[in-house]
Amino acid sequence: MPWLSVVQARKAESVGDGVEIRGWVRTRRDSKGGFSFLEINDGSCMGNLQVIVPAELGNYQSEVLKLGAGCSVVVEGELKASPAKGQATELAARSVRVLGWADPVAYPMQKKGHTFEFLRTQAHLRARTNTFGAVARVRNRICDSIHSFFQEKGFLLVHTPIITGSDCEGAGQMFRVTTLDPANTPRLPDGAVDYSRDFFGKPTHLTVSGQLEGETYACSLGRIYTFGPTFRAENSNTARHLAEFWMIEPEAAFFTLLENMDLAESFLRRIASDVLEHCSEDLDFFVERIDKTARAALTQLATVPFRRISYTEAVRLLENSGESFEYPVRWGIDLQSEHERWLTEKQFKQPIIVFDYPKEIKAFYMRLNDDGKTVRAMDVLVPRVGEIIGGSQREERLDVLEARMRECHLDPEAYWWYLDLRRYGTVPHAGFGLGLERLVQMVTGMANIRDVIPFPRTPQSAEF
Ligand code: 4AD
Ligand code: MG
Repeated sequence: MPWLSVVQARKAESVGDGVEIRGWVRTRRDSKGGFSFLEINDGSCMGNLQVIVPAELGNYQSEVLKLGAGCSVVVEGELKASPAKGQATELAARSVRVLGWADPVAYPMQKKGHTFEFLRTQAHLRARTNTFGAVARVRNRICDSIHSFFQEKGFLLVHTPIITGSDCEGAGQMFRVTTLDPANTPRLPDGAVDYSRDFFGKPTHLTVSGQLEGETYACSLGRIYTFGPTFRAENSNTARHLAEFWMIEPEAAFFTLLENMDLAESFLRRIASDVLEHCSEDLDFFVERIDKTARAALTQLATVPFRRISYTEAVRLLENSGESFEYPVRWGIDLQSEHERWLTEKQFKQPIIVFDYPKEIKAFYMRLNDDGKTVRAMDVLVPRVGEIIGGSQREERLDVLEARMRECHLDPEAYWWYLDLRRYGTVPHAGFGLGLERLVQMVTGMANIRDVIPFPRTPQSAEF
């Protein structure tokens, strides 16, 4: 008998087939007419398969009547057209085999309507709920879409290192990687830690971005992208920050900021339309249960051209907004979440790209504009989430880059290999980083970033 997933078995064209289903019981209802209904889910889709179990089955009394949420079963039977609303098929069981029991008193997922806070303490089981199943499927679809988009556009996937000897963002919020014993650290005569005795013979950290290494391949192979875990030791306990998140970073030789913006825009558009096309059932759920604007926001992302404004223009709009912000606005400040939200939610009501930021608030590698004050940076801001993409055209002029590094208190010597790209055959190039989890938040409407990654890492929290 063929083993069908629930998503296959729910299709009308499967009616009449003898099939086997393997999954977990969501609910059991017993009818007075001498049979029971089981709702079976196997994660292949949001919907359950309704199974009708006749009392004649040999283990009906001894086992079927004891089944409850979380038990795993293999059911054989015939798929029939279902008279019930909301499902095309149902399974008339000929046998129900129990693989694993779940004690109804102890099983934490027995009850419906747990808070997301509680479910975070049950990260190993929460994927069995509708919400986390849907998030996982949408996240998977987005990843598929990311690879398809870049592969079709001729971008090469490059694996940049996770352990790194350089700091890309220059912000010093890195996790140290060491094999030195904290209780017995080797010291130099002046008391400083002797890193020559450490595993790599120098200080190393978990990467905050694959960009610098990505640039080396872009300046050889033309167009590349990285997609990997990224680590930031910033102590921000917000609904948009993780200590470990996944970032997609394309980098393209001969691209200017304009082409970079076009790339970011068509990239997000493609992901939005793929999700709309392939995750309709999960989206229905998000609209109904999480955020009623989720589908409209996605449709807008897929169809409406982003508004593009300079940082200077954005600051002018904020200054004239008449709003009283917690962080007062003036030219030169880093835009705060409240400012980003006002721009995207109140002023433009759509995704925007802000470009040409003051150099003081951006990283050393961004290309200096002729005004000497701003750099060729761009941030993509979306309603509800704020910044989901940060990128720039890179400084390709050796002397300007070295000067910027010194301004940022970075030692050009330590970045000798990065500077070599400017010494030998330098070219204009650009790229950006998209935070996967912020994108999943935007697509699903999930309010907290900890609920769109399977095992969130945040300050004081790494249980699993
Ligand atoms: O703006 P960021 O810091 O840019 C970079 O790292 C560049 N090197 C990217 C590049 O040009 N190749 O980070 C990029 C994106 C942000 O827009 C945000 O979506 C996400 O990464 N991000 C985070 N997501 C979750 N938790 C955090 N702590 C994040 N920090 C950044
Ligand atoms: Mg940024």
